Amino acid sequence: MKKIYICLFCFCIFLSILYGLSFSQGGLQLPVLSSPEEYGDIFIDRVSTKNKVTPVVFSHWIHRVKYTCRVCHDELEIAMKSSETEILCGKGEAKGERHCVKCHNGKESFAFAPKDAEGENCKRCHNADSSPNRQKFFELQGKLPRSKFGNEIDWGKALNDGLIKPKDSLSDKTRTIVHDKILTLKAEMSGISPAVFPHKTHEQWLDCANCHPEIFNIKKKTTKNLKMANMLKGEACAICHLRVAFPLNDCKRCHPKMRG
Ligand code: HEC
Ligand code: HEC
Ligand code: HEC
Ligand code: HEC
Ligand code: HEC
Ligand code: HEC
Repeated sequence: MKKIYICLFCFCIFLSILYGLSFSQGGLQLPVLSSPEEYGDIFIDRVSTKNKVTPVVFSHWIHRVKYTCRVCHDELEIAMKSSETEILCGKGEAKGERHCVKCHNGKESFAFAPKDAEGENCKRCHNADSSPNRQKFFELQGKLPRSKFGNEIDWGKALNDGLIKPKDSLSDKTRTIVHDKILTLKAEMSGISPAVFPHKTHEQWLDCANCHPEIFNIKKKTTKNLKMANMLKGEACAICHLRVAFPLNDCKRCHPKMRG
């Protein structure tokens, strides 16, 4: 009799483990997202706190209206990882021609210096918070096609409808789309509709070198961490699709045939 109880007990534990596993795979634990006006804001503090200045908040939506990703992440060699790039500021002296200084020079956009008595110019970047731009964000959002998550703006449609015209280069270089193939990435799990990867959509914003060979192999279905479990940790597609581009929550944009 005792044996039967022990067996029953073990069986129950076994069942609950099995249930727990299947639940964590089916009902994906998606990370909490920031609000639409703050989605894509990057907190930069490689040297600020050390130098006793307020850290910098860089807002992607303000910039992607005017420039494609490749301008900064290819041409200006800014890393796709917060606080990674050695960004020059020189306590506001801003010597050189790199990173923020390339544009914040008083011509392309406002300059680092001269600052006024309150250091206002400094505060535009060193503010640890982007709330001064809230109103501007909602005005912009009101003019652009909407989506459900992230900035709640359909950036791809905004671009294709000509509602935004981001520069693709700071020089006069023009590009042509070279790889116009939609990849179908069939999931390893049965019953899951495949994910699609449109090269063209990505090339409108990005350079091949932003993805190949560091994030993805140039051979279909060979990239090891191309799985939802890794993506939930911010890897593979989620390097962009949890931080700047529409987030993982939008299942159907990658799995167009997914039900529900
Ligand atoms: C266009 C944006 C921008 C403006 C304007 C700006 N900074 Fe910076 N500053 C940065 C960035 C980005 C960093 C790098 C932050 C980091 O990695 O922690 C930085 C770093 C610094 C640092 C750390 C050490 C160094 O010099 O690199 C100091 C000090 C500093 N800024 C002072 C100032 C002062 C004073 C002003 C106003 C005269 C100013 N900044 C204006 C963007 C700006
Ligand atoms: C005007 C310049 C600029 C443009 C345009 C731009 N970025 Fe960034 N991006 C940055 C900077 C600056 C950082 C922070 C880098 C650092 O601190 O080293 C960053 C960081 C990132 C990160 C890392 C986020 C994190 O949490 O670590 C991702 C991902 C990213 N960008 C994707 C994109 C995508 C996708 C686009 C186009 C839709 C884009 N960026 C357009 C300047 C830009
Ligand atoms: C490729 C050019 C370019 C680069 C690189 C760039 N910016 Fe900008 N930035 C602009 C332009 C243009 C605007 C004005 C956008 C507008 O008003 O619509 C702007 C606006 C801003 C604003 C909004 C401020 C306000 O008060 O309106 C901040 C803050 C800012 N940039 C910080 C940065 C920081 C920090 C970096 C470097 C990490 C950086 N930018 C790199 C072009 C650039
Ligand atoms: C946003 C990221 C991204 C960008 C940008 C990108 N690719 Fe890819 N590419 C991928 C992914 C994801 C795969 C599939 C990898 C896998 O399944 O393991 C892939 C696969 C490929 C393949 C093999 C599959 C096929 O279509 O034959 C080629 C070739 C390729 N890319 C070329 C390019 C070229 C050329 C560019 C630039 C013009 C480019 N890619 C830009 C993400 C990207
Ligand atoms: C380097 C950044 C980056 C990576 C990595 C990346 N994407 Fe994207 N993706 C973008 C950007 C930017 C857009 C434009 C839309 C936006 O910003 O929300 C986009 C758009 C898309 C779209 C178009 C959706 C629509 O409604 O038109 C699909 C589908 C997509 N991505 C799937 C993927 C998949 C699948 C992967 C991984 C295999 C991936 N992406 C990796 C940056 C990236
Ligand atoms: C940015 C694009 C993207 C979004 C958004 C996305 N997925 Fe995926 N998903 C993929 C890719 C790529 C794969 C891997 C396909 C393969 O195996 O090659 C995948 C695979 C899967 C798998 C198969 C198991 C695995 O881990 O690989 C499941 C289940 C899944 N996705 C569910 C979801 C659900 C549910 C959502 C919405 C909450 C979602 N996905 C949103 C791109 C995406």
